[in-house]
Amino acid sequence: MQALQQQLEKLRKQLRYHNHLYYVLDDPQIPDVEYDRLFRELQALEIAHPELITPDSPTQRVGAAPLTEFGEIKHAIPMLSLGNVFSNEELLAFDKRIHDRLKSDSETEFVAEPKLDGLAISILYENGVFIRAATRGDGETGEDVTHNVRTIASVPLRLLGEGCPAVLEVRGEIYMPKAGFEAFNAKMRALGEKTFVNPRNAAAGSLRQLDPRLTAQRPLDIFCYAVGLVEGGIVPDTHYAILQQFRAWGLRVCPDIRIVQGAQGCLDYFHEIGARRNSLPYDIDGVVYKVNSIALQQELGFISRAPRWAVAHKFPAQEEITELEGVDFQVGRTGALTPVARLKPVFVGGVTVSNATLHNMDEIERKDVRIGDFVIVRRAGDVIPEIASVILERRPAGATPIMMPTHCPVCGSEVKRSEGEAVARCTGGLYCPAQVKEAIKHFASRKAMNIDGLGDKMVEQLFDAGLIRHVDDLYSLDVEAVAALERMGKKSAENLIAALESSKSTTLERFIYALGIRNAGEGTAKGLARYFGSLEAIQAANEETLKLVPDIGVIVAANIAQFFAEAHNRDTIQHLRDLGVHWSNYEAKPAEVLPLAGKTYVITGTLSRSRDDIKADLEALGAKVSGSVSKKTTALIAGENAGSKLDKAESLGITVLDEAALSVLLSRL
Ligand code: IVH
Repeated sequence: MQALQQQLEKLRKQLRYHNHLYYVLDDPQIPDVEYDRLFRELQALEIAHPELITPDSPTQRVGAAPLTEFGEIKHAIPMLSLGNVFSNEELLAFDKRIHDRLKSDSETEFVAEPKLDGLAISILYENGVFIRAATRGDGETGEDVTHNVRTIASVPLRLLGEGCPAVLEVRGEIYMPKAGFEAFNAKMRALGEKTFVNPRNAAAGSLRQLDPRLTAQRPLDIFCYAVGLVEGGIVPDTHYAILQQFRAWGLRVCPDIRIVQGAQGCLDYFHEIGARRNSLPYDIDGVVYKVNSIALQQELGFISRAPRWAVAHKFPAQEEITELEGVDFQVGRTGALTPVARLKPVFVGGVTVSNATLHNMDEIERKDVRIGDFVIVRRAGDVIPEIASVILERRPAGATPIMMPTHCPVCGSEVKRSEGEAVARCTGGLYCPAQVKEAIKHFASRKAMNIDGLGDKMVEQLFDAGLIRHVDDLYSLDVEAVAALERMGKKSAENLIAALESSKSTTLERFIYALGIRNAGEGTAKGLARYFGSLEAIQAANEETLKLVPDIGVIVAANIAQFFAEAHNRDTIQHLRDLGVHWSNYEAKPAEVLPLAGKTYVITGTLSRSRDDIKADLEALGAKVSGSVSKKTTALIAGENAGSKLDKAESLGITVLDEAALSVLLSRL
């Protein structure tokens, strides 16, 4: 029996160790299969000897049966909230209050931490063993979420090392990493189920599942940031040292926490984290500054329900509530009608927002948005503001459903939605001014004809002044007519005409892309150019031949063939060439002789060019680009901060190329 017990303990110790390396340190040392083997060995022994199962055994994460309701846990020490500051001045006042109270003129040492946007949690360890976990609740009493918190792989069921107090209450934040949130929502969308509005709601919803088996499937994680009750032992005397001690005990601590000096140190940190906010793997809504010395913390004490020694410095809110006053439909280059929400102006994410995208009718239906509704508007970073959700409880009686117009709001042509398509389109084609304007904007854009100084606004102005009706009119513009436009001088007009002139010398792929054939992006344009070599050859190709080009499928092939079959498109092309637009042809190269034919690449991490650009180049050389690493992958192209794909490639023994190796590969282009 003793030998058996020793064997069980040895297995548990090994599993805990590898669990810690994998989930807390992100640094696994054994392959997953080896971990699984140890796990199954332990499981088998425990099944044979159930009397020897301990609650801190790694097998005991998902064991409990579903609950009908959560029990209550009274916090031994209340879980407080934090005061907020929203400006530099308020932060300086916070710092000054500390100086005044401590009667000190030396700079205060703070620990600066990201303010995590999750759910506060209290976890009780007795003699290093996980006992129970509770939400913050009202600060005095929380909900017993022990069974759910147990399922979070980075929460140790037994603390590592020696010297932990007999009773230790650890506090921290449970959150859903951004990547996990996106993946989880994508899965829900695919299943036609409701998605979560943001990672915070996802974390809260997941933690409050009555069935721990459901929680176990959610990608939850934890960062620990404070101690609560401590009995029968001591913890270090600075906050920072406590966090280091946490790490030694195997608890997960946010890697972006720093010691800073004085108010200026706090502000520098605030700006540094603000700049990195969008690229952090977790959501934050500000930063927290805490006086580092525990003795000073005690001296400062509390005021009402918040400590005097800590404060949250909040970013401007990224989500706000406002009213949906109406919906307009914008007509794009391909005639697609996009619903745009007209909102009662609201300050969100640092700017005033009065429009937000509603994507398409399916999205409107899914979110059940109606005119008159109170909606949550989100503006995260530089992304276009969007309507995250509707507050159904506040729906007014007169809220009206949003209808797709039957006729184009710009040209009055009929609007049609083909079967299986999410978007409805104006059938006006070149008759529709909105479509033509968009087509000209696309023609002039950087990756197309790259006409300097011919941005969206300029196109609008030229079009509205009646100077251009079609793309080819651009090359008949003269300085005098352009200079006569509002806010244009002779100099800028000359510059524009010069830019138009130099854009005439282009490449075949740019020209094809500039034509704006539906679903034919830069990658397709490059592929066509390399495969056929000349525009004449592309125009002469039928759908079957077009499909031979790497990455061109049935739909794109049909679109291309249809485009060139239209007489007015051929006329426009001829006219552009007559006006001097030219390029050099390539030697035609059938797909099978392209240098990377038959090879599959996966791109991950941060590289100096966008993934789409790199993908287009690889495809033009005949390669396929896939989203996930498998045995069939030729090589993984890994930039900075490559994550799980790199691990997978390494475990499968697949070649990994860095940016330098990629340039060698693409030099054949
Ligand atoms: S310390 C007495 N540190 O903010 C101080 N809280 O407004 C207790 N939070 O309920 C909290 N990140 O959910 C602390 N690094 C951090 C935090 C943090 C997020 C949340 C926590 C708490 C709320 C207080």
